[in-house]
Amino acid sequence: MTGPARLEGRDKVTGTARYADDHRPPGCVHACPVPATVARGAVTAVDTAAALADPRVLTVLTHLDAPRLAHADDPTLAVLQSARVAHRGQYVALAVAETPEAAEQAAAAVRVTYAAEPHDVVLTEGHPGVYAPEQANGGHPADRVRGDFDAAWAAAEVRVDATYRTPPMHNHPMEPHAATARWEGDRLTVHDSSQGTAEVQRVLAALFGLERSQVLAVSEHVGGGFGCKGTPRPHVVLAAMAARVVGRPVRLALPRAHLAAVVGHRAPTVQRVRLAAGRDGRIEGLAQEILTRCSTLKEFVEQAAVPARVMYRSPSSRTTHRVVRQDVPAPSWMRAPGEAPGMFALESAMDELALACGIDPVELRLRNEPGTEPDSGRPFSSRHLTECLREGARRFGWERRGPAGRAEGRLLVGTGVAASTYPVLIGPASAEVRAEANGTFLVRVNATDIGTGARTVLAVIAAEVLAVPVDRVRAEIGRSDLPYGGVAGGSSGTSSWGWAVHAAASALARRLAEGGPVPAEGLSADADTRELVAQGAEYARHAFGAQFAEVQVDRDTGEVRLRRLLGVFAAGRILNPRTARSQLLGGMVMGASMALLEESTMDPEFGDHAERDLAAYHVAVNADVPDVQAYWVAEQDPHVSPMGSKGIGEIGIVGTAAAVANAVHHATGVRVRELPIGVRALLGRTGG
Ligand code: MOS
Repeated sequence: MTGPARLEGRDKVTGTARYADDHRPPGCVHACPVPATVARGAVTAVDTAAALADPRVLTVLTHLDAPRLAHADDPTLAVLQSARVAHRGQYVALAVAETPEAAEQAAAAVRVTYAAEPHDVVLTEGHPGVYAPEQANGGHPADRVRGDFDAAWAAAEVRVDATYRTPPMHNHPMEPHAATARWEGDRLTVHDSSQGTAEVQRVLAALFGLERSQVLAVSEHVGGGFGCKGTPRPHVVLAAMAARVVGRPVRLALPRAHLAAVVGHRAPTVQRVRLAAGRDGRIEGLAQEILTRCSTLKEFVEQAAVPARVMYRSPSSRTTHRVVRQDVPAPSWMRAPGEAPGMFALESAMDELALACGIDPVELRLRNEPGTEPDSGRPFSSRHLTECLREGARRFGWERRGPAGRAEGRLLVGTGVAASTYPVLIGPASAEVRAEANGTFLVRVNATDIGTGARTVLAVIAAEVLAVPVDRVRAEIGRSDLPYGGVAGGSSGTSSWGWAVHAAASALARRLAEGGPVPAEGLSADADTRELVAQGAEYARHAFGAQFAEVQVDRDTGEVRLRRLLGVFAAGRILNPRTARSQLLGGMVMGASMALLEESTMDPEFGDHAERDLAAYHVAVNADVPDVQAYWVAEQDPHVSPMGSKGIGEIGIVGTAAAVANAVHHATGVRVRELPIGVRALLGRTGG
């Protein structure tokens, strides 16, 4: 869709916006993968006779006959290349048929025999396989040590030493992963549900031994991702493989039941936090030690201790990550990887410290604001946590809060606060902006809209630079043959693509200012920000926020209900208030969901996550979030992009769970250190 930006929403609500699975090229056939039913071992035989007996079935691919792929730098994409099974649910065969039903039936009829081996899927402290990785996700050093934590701990007047746990969680976007692939000679076109087609193009080209120019990847509209579409997933490789074998276009839409195993998830964490402080609440030592796990296929270390390197002043600090490789599906990005689970622990511990010192939790955070980024010593490009805490407290009515919550009949009511943070990530991009002879403008950049309104905000940026009404600007995005743009991830999209659009629009504006009419073929300017985005690295660049929650806990049943959630964020300049508010609210709702509902459970016998659908994996619905409000403070940060934006996609989920847990403690006196906070944690402990 390349209509004016404001029509993008209309396309979505009227159903004309096309998602990956809406593409059905002529002659298109259907594929359905077969998941492994053991958690570790090898495929010893595949009997496809029953599946192939159906004349509608074109083929069943297995590791024995599937096309050979070139070496995959992501081992989860080496599909059907070996007999090894690294986790339950990993694909071991692929049925291709004339109809979706026939493909599904064929997949179910494939008989796979395994040599199963004992599997290891339970994360325990003291697991013999625990090791110290070099890096955690995001390229952060796994360990950082500053000052002498042990000495600070020994000398402290007040100590908090607590261990927090977060379960595995799954992204579950509304639109499950889907791809349609077709070959024309040696040219491959895929419509994929992806957060970034440049990477889909790069990876498919590498796997199939093609030049990048031979692969076109398109993600016109995407129904959510939250990180699980941030890198190519097995479905798109399988679709391309099958299309090559059968010589027809192939569509492959994953059933939601498969998602838990093949598109990543948030790994569980065990987090020991120690805070050493004076009676005045000033922190002298901070330690956050993470244990997590990943799959045997590839290392992925949830960087949960990284926000502690940013948040609070402390003369000494020790932040570490340990990991164990197990026979489980490969974890990956889920909205604010690192910050979301890490700040649950740190911000809960801050609440425990506030209580131990008898200091208001807002005040405790103000007292511990650092002047420079603690671990790097770099100055902050700008840092408005104080403003967020103060404005949030005012809007929420925090000052009326007593030391303990109140009782309303059976309901125990309490309030809690937590801080939020997320780094400013900006990647290189290229863009073209063109003035048409008819007075309209066209923005071209390979951005991806995962439901955030990327077309609109890019048009807003160009319109502002060109000083024209936004409805005269249209944006062409979501194709790998457009000027380069990176993934819609890390809250970096708008700043990264937008910077290139800003630069190209500025160049175009200069040319237009030279005068003369726009020629019939239009007038265009382009820009590449590779060198520009390298600027500003001498500053620590982060967004901050503060979230306030009010909960009620049923004294008899232990049921927790969120009554109010209010967040104030400092995320640079807000470019499109309507869509920004929606993203912040969405993050906060997902944070509330993480606090109270979301949990995948590893079945130790089957070696699999038990939840396969939205009936078993609970996410917050409207009734769970009756009153959620997001605000922001005015922030002018001169050291980010020329738009002044910092990124808003993830910060809303950071700290939310701690605000809720802290409110539960205020209401009940029960400190819940393990998510989700459910009846299980509170039943029989609330005096009912
Ligand atoms: Mo996000 S987890 O950076 O897609």
